[in-house]
Amino acid sequence: MKLLILGICLTLTAHLLYASESAYEQGRDLYFQNGCANCHGTNAEGSSYYPKLANKKKKYLTDKLENFKKGIANTQKQEIMFTFAQTLTQKDIMNITSYLTNFKKDNSDKYNVEEDLLGVDY
Ligand code: HEC
Repeated sequence: MKLLILGICLTLTAHLLYASESAYEQGRDLYFQNGCANCHGTNAEGSSYYPKLANKKKKYLTDKLENFKKGIANTQKQEIMFTFAQTLTQKDIMNITSYLTNFKKDNSDKYNVEEDLLGVDY
């Protein structure tokens, strides 16, 4: 009986870990597939013109993306985001913000290969 309970607990834990990992990974794929990296950087680090997104609060990022999706911006500069946010579903926003808020630089990441080859460090 004890083993059975332990087994159930382990299965549940594995399931929870898998679920959160997969949101991060799905978010990373979406971030690159939707071209976010072209402006916000392969490490979501931003530049002098584009804002950094890495490790910002999940609620802040979600609110921004939901507003952009609805066509709401505070400045004209932000309006460029409308096109990019409109193609995202609520689930996409959830996954992308999970990725960005928990962002960890990973040098083994397949998406960093090009950057490494070019020797560019933004
Ligand atoms: C063509 C360039 C471009 C692309 C591509 C782009 N963005 Fe943006 N993004 C911007 C600009 C410009 C702003 C507004 C900067 C400002 O407010 O000064 C912005 C703002 C944001 C903000 C608000 C950040 C903040 O701190 O206020 C978020 C979140 C964001 N973008 C996420 C994304 C995501 C996710 C994608 C991909 C789906 C994406 N962006 C694609 C240019 C881009």
